[in-house]
Amino acid sequence: MSDLTPAYLRELLDPLGFDPVEANRLVRLMTVIDGLPPPPDPIGLYPAYDEHLQAFRAAAHGDDGERVEETFLALYCHLHGHEAPYSEAERRLVRETGGYWAHAGGLSPVLKAGPLIGPNDVVGDFGAGNGLQGLLMQVLDPHALTIQIEVSERMITAGRALQKWFEIPPERVDWIAGDVLDATPRGMDFIYLYRPVRPVGKGRRFYEHFASELVAERRPVIIFSIADCLREFLPEEFTVFYGDGHLTCYRRR
Ligand SMILES: C[S@@+](CC[C@H](N)C(=O)[O-])C[C@H]1O[C@@H](n2cnc3c(N)ncnc32)[C@H](O)[C@@H]1O
Repeated sequence: MSDLTPAYLRELLDPLGFDPVEANRLVRLMTVIDGLPPPPDPIGLYPAYDEHLQAFRAAAHGDDGERVEETFLALYCHLHGHEAPYSEAERRLVRETGGYWAHAGGLSPVLKAGPLIGPNDVVGDFGAGNGLQGLLMQVLDPHALTIQIEVSERMITAGRALQKWFEIPPERVDWIAGDVLDATPRGMDFIYLYRPVRPVGKGRRFYEHFASELVAERRPVIIFSIADCLREFLPEEFTVFYGDGHLTCYRRR
């Protein structure tokens, strides 16, 4: 743990023009991660963690806010993992469903989610990788349950270890090793997804099923979608309330 203070980090980030609420949340993530020992790494996903952490700490002791942001993003990306390890069967399933590999959805959805996740909410990530996005949401906005659906069992092993590292109670996260085509958004209040599968061939069925399941219940659900391809599937009652080309946010009207 280093001697970084939230006030100093906040001051460094000030010239970058972040929304003040999001800047405070980013600083909170920085101080939480700075305060933790290196993450447990049961599948060898983070070989350069310490290098990235030291680069971030060096930047955070300097006076260049952009460098602080950049090094923290690199640390986050490393912790997310770039290449999910798949068994032969999992790889086949990813190919058959037009699945995307483990690219990171970025910090912006985690920073923007704040006011939209309540303590009793159920949050779901379809194609969760090691579940970092949902875990960071649990860190910033503790909620009843995060459901992490991911095809790679080894990524789930990595995610379970990260859950302990962040000291998120066991009952707060469900890990589902399987195909997103078999999963349902029913019962979820806040859904996060980064295009787990392409909307063609078998993958198209995921979006059709996802949309029809949402229509079947009346929850005021929020959806955060990265590289969005839901628009043509969701019924009109879902409207976009934010979009920046990377992240599209829907709510039920
Ligand atoms: C683009 S990554 C998103 C990771 C994370 N949700 C994020 O936003 O940072 C897509 C994830 O979906 C998983 N995936 C691909 N096809 C899948 C399928 N058919 N069922 C479940 N997960 C799948 C991949 O293994 C990968 O972890």
